[in-house]
Amino acid sequence: MTPNQKNSTVNNSRKRVSRAPKLENGFASQDILSVSQFSRENLEHIFAVAQDMRAIVKSAGSTDLLRGFVLACLFYEPSTRTSSSFIAAMTRLGGTVIPITQGVQFSSVSKGESLPDTIRTLESYADVIVIRHPEMGSAQMAADYARKPIINGGDGIGEHPTQALLDMFTIQEELGQIDGLNVGMVGDLRYGRTVHSLARLLCLYDVRFNFVSPEILRLPLDVMNEIRDHGLPVTETYDVADIISDVDVLYVTRVQKERFADLGQYEEVKDQYVITPELMEHAKKKMVVMHPLPRVGEISYHVDDDPRAAYFRQMENGMYTRMALLAAVLGKV
Ligand code: NCD
Repeated sequence: MTPNQKNSTVNNSRKRVSRAPKLENGFASQDILSVSQFSRENLEHIFAVAQDMRAIVKSAGSTDLLRGFVLACLFYEPSTRTSSSFIAAMTRLGGTVIPITQGVQFSSVSKGESLPDTIRTLESYADVIVIRHPEMGSAQMAADYARKPIINGGDGIGEHPTQALLDMFTIQEELGQIDGLNVGMVGDLRYGRTVHSLARLLCLYDVRFNFVSPEILRLPLDVMNEIRDHGLPVTETYDVADIISDVDVLYVTRVQKERFADLGQYEEVKDQYVITPELMEHAKKKMVVMHPLPRVGEISYHVDDDPRAAYFRQMENGMYTRMALLAAVLGKV
């Protein structure tokens, strides 16, 4: 479906055949469902606009670029950063928000309304919809029924493309480059959707991967195969100590308790990795520790004052990146 068809109010065939098409003509009116849609050029555009957005927020707090536009935030799973940064982003751009974030139970979803009907409802009021849902493929499904752009805010253990955008922006801002970096990813690589999206997106660059996880939380084969298809070097280990002195980026993740069918297995692996100041003594002087947050013990609070701890700056970057994305999807930049 072309951008114009997507925006059209007289589109009778609502079922879309295209699955997350590449953004060859930019972001305007497009769904943002998977990082597989992005090119390096797309990323560079978002990074440049995100820098402008940061300058606007720092100097003026807000702008009226999206005045009159409405964003619907539909969150079927808990969220602090993704939902509030999207709401703050839209508000600072002069637009308004329908927030179904903490209270899907208060919407008609709790009466058994289907996802397609909920999406059809929200798109009659809003110009763009962000959805988070526990099932993989749910954002694609929403997009199949929607005429307005759908942004995937996390679909189960699938993808989290906007998190990957802000992660990449953070790496670029912190280290001044992405090519040539040695990236370590630690923790729940199996269920962590942020890892899946970031690893896939990093394949657009010349990077080395070092994965650290317990056996049962290893990176899914499809993501690993994608990395191998790009010919990028990969190591896998169980111990952070094996890689800490080599990496430029240490991307730490929470063990995703809510995804385990067997909580006994969760208990076995939950405290396996903790980044401490002692461990950081072995890390490079110029490197960054990142985390999509929330953390539940994987990074000691004593690491927070280390200048290499970038996770709070990363979180702030989420708002600038989402401002850039909203402005781009709504055709303003
Ligand atoms: C992540 C998520 O929801 O996938 N959080 C986020 O969006 N910042 C990571 C997590 O929940 O562990």
